[in-house]
Amino acid sequence: MTLGEIRERYLAYYKERGHAVIPSARLVPENDPTTLFTGSGMQPMVPYLLGENHPEGTRITDSQKSFRTGDIDEIGDNRHTTFFEMLGNWSLGDYFKAEQLPWVFGFLTDEIGLDPKRLYVTAFIGDEKNDLPRDTESAEIWKGLFKAKGIDAEVALIGSEAEGYARGMKDGERIFYYDAKKNWWSRAGVPEHMPAGEPGGPDSEMFYDFGAVDAAGTPRHDAKFGKECHPNCDCGRFLEIGNSVFMQYVKKPDGTFGLLPKKNVDFGGGLERIAMAAADIPDIIAVCHRLIVAKLEEISGKQYGSASPADLAAFRIVADHIKAASFLIGDGVAPSNNERGYFVRRLLRRAVRYADQLGMHESLLSALVLPALEPYRDAYPETYKALDMIRQEVNKEEEKFRRTLKEGLRKFEKICAGNAAGAMLAGSDAFDLYQSYGFPVELTRELAKEKGFSIDEEGYKKDLESHQALSRTSSAGTFKGGLADHSEETTRLHTAHHLLLKALQIVLGPQVKQRGSNITSERLRLDFSTDGGRMTDEQKAAVEMIVNKKIKEDLPVIRSEMPREEAEKLGAEHEFGQKYPERVSVYSVGPKGATPEDPQFEKAYSIEFCGGPHVTHTGEIGGTFKIAKEEAVSAGIRRVRGVIDK
Ligand code: ALA
Repeated sequence: MTLGEIRERYLAYYKERGHAVIPSARLVPENDPTTLFTGSGMQPMVPYLLGENHPEGTRITDSQKSFRTGDIDEIGDNRHTTFFEMLGNWSLGDYFKAEQLPWVFGFLTDEIGLDPKRLYVTAFIGDEKNDLPRDTESAEIWKGLFKAKGIDAEVALIGSEAEGYARGMKDGERIFYYDAKKNWWSRAGVPEHMPAGEPGGPDSEMFYDFGAVDAAGTPRHDAKFGKECHPNCDCGRFLEIGNSVFMQYVKKPDGTFGLLPKKNVDFGGGLERIAMAAADIPDIIAVCHRLIVAKLEEISGKQYGSASPADLAAFRIVADHIKAASFLIGDGVAPSNNERGYFVRRLLRRAVRYADQLGMHESLLSALVLPALEPYRDAYPETYKALDMIRQEVNKEEEKFRRTLKEGLRKFEKICAGNAAGAMLAGSDAFDLYQSYGFPVELTRELAKEKGFSIDEEGYKKDLESHQALSRTSSAGTFKGGLADHSEETTRLHTAHHLLLKALQIVLGPQVKQRGSNITSERLRLDFSTDGGRMTDEQKAAVEMIVNKKIKEDLPVIRSEMPREEAEKLGAEHEFGQKYPERVSVYSVGPKGATPEDPQFEKAYSIEFCGGPHVTHTGEIGGTFKIAKEEAVSAGIRRVRGVIDK
């Protein structure tokens, strides 16, 4: 089964069960300054899990593009990729365990055809310290589900991962209780790490068993991971394919746990991993990056199936990184030295280095973009349409790096030659490789490690920092989207942000479009596209005057829900490049006398696609708006910083 088939079936399955299908959000999160990239399906859902109404209702499903930076250095094993899709279904205060577990079990066994005997599940053992009970309900439901398939599933009390490795699994055991490290989910991890206000809950994971021995009869378990094998063992025998989080708790300011206004379900399933299970092949690259691998074989003349361990890792790294970089570039993140762009640079430069290892010494990564994106032609047409642009970016980056790669590698060898085995390479050398040869420090660290060296990280950092201070490039141009929090101050500035965008359009012209925003309790920042240059003092004064007039008028701020098309017809503003679901939430400001029942859009001062939150009347902004700074971000994009003076 292809990724496309599984994705389609999943969405159709949950649609049949009353779920609204929403599009994947971009890999660059909106209104969430806590993360650089969308790393799971639930991130764009946080406001709704906390209790805000979702315009599409209480049952939502999607397949979310995700990217995990933490996995870049892990790629090369049989099951990790930096880019993946997370199949998601959510109950926002609607159904709970009794529906969620049978549905996901039914999907995997009856729809996808996985053998239930190959499935193992886990549940939360409970946490006395935090007064969080054991999830016996899920275990009971699982027992019944396996029973209905003719399987007697025994329950095992494991606890910690270490106990799992010591104890292993006994015959008949299929339902395993683990502690919070394994069976509790929040964005911050275990209950102790959650900040006040963070939602979380116990979860129940599903694992696919590739079998105790491989096709050649060799045991899959390797004691280097731990003495005994168990579902959470890292040896590769068991593959986690899905996680049902029962999101019903919220951390309170006093450190204890309270209940969310409603009980939610947050399910995340790894699309690529489900495809591996469906194919019964424990190799994510072989199953999900087939076209890229074929192209690599064609160019390099080497065969994936008979590659040496080093070449196999190289195949996997190049295949993973080119797909991830293609999607990131498609979502607007070009390679650069800035926060997000640096990850794309790292991916591509590392891919170049490993392509080089496969004997490919010319620029050719761009030839892998089509095989990387071809399988996503229907699911992500906007990415596919950007094919040429992505190829150009990849090629530009590869050419740039290849100009210095050979010499850089020579330089690296020279540095190593002057060091005794096991030595720490000087930070200044690592910095020189970065500065003069474009080697991301992570790449140098990796090259050093292969030779048994380490690098002086502190020394490197010091050199980097003094260089940055000199050239003043530290974080100019970096940009984080969205609202820092939902505090009262931030909310006021958020409404002021809407007033500002419209005022800019009035003063500078309708071609002004929002290209990014960032709002904290102190100030707002708005990036916009314009065909003009620096704003004159008169223009700034005119913009301030309009915003302050609208604050004084105390206009109503109204939230409405409507089909996306209707919002577009109203001319509601949206951020460039953002995708929106079928039903959207829209905030309009003014006119006086407008109400949620009668929003009078045609007379509104401003209308924007927006998830909130906002003040209810502009007067609550409570002060005088001032432009603190106006500056260029890049060609055609300018940035305004604004504050409210009390
Ligand atoms: N949010 C859960 C996860 O990422 C489903 O595993």
